[in-house]
Amino acid sequence: MHKILFVCLGNICRSPMAEFVMKKMVKDAGVERQFEIASAATSTEEWGNPVYPPARRKLAEHGIRCDGKTARQMSRADYDYYDLIIAMDHSNLRGIQRIIGADSQNKVSLLMDHTDHPHDVADPWYTGNFDATWEDVTAGCAALLHELCRTA
Ligand code: 4NP
Repeated sequence: MHKILFVCLGNICRSPMAEFVMKKMVKDAGVERQFEIASAATSTEEWGNPVYPPARRKLAEHGIRCDGKTARQMSRADYDYYDLIIAMDHSNLRGIQRIIGADSQNKVSLLMDHTDHPHDVADPWYTGNFDATWEDVTAGCAALLHELCRTA
């Protein structure tokens, strides 16, 4: 079982996109029973809010639904529970560190560090570019799935 928590600043754009893209990828690969996948925020800014409409529309364009997802903040208990904590950008790493302290169990990584082209996933909340986020998130999740299936 791989338990994965995707993390971003607000948990209404990037990390829920990653959550629902990854859920679709593991389902399509027929390995969904080997995965538990969720997402959370480093901040409390959007707590309780649904996925931001442009992010929801981008997922829907690709036949992916995210009904019922609402933002929540990551906790110390999440760090203990999940095997992999996958952040979208370097500032998320600092936010995670504020919540959990040191990454003593070596669980935290950046999504795009799992690809051949490491970089921060730009925040579409500020850029307005949900296509770029979609490209990064799908590339990152595909690379992560490949890595996990190889080591399973
Ligand atoms: P996300 O985008 O971290 O990709 O969910 C953001 C959404 C909301 C805010 C910041 C980033 N905010 O400050 O409310």
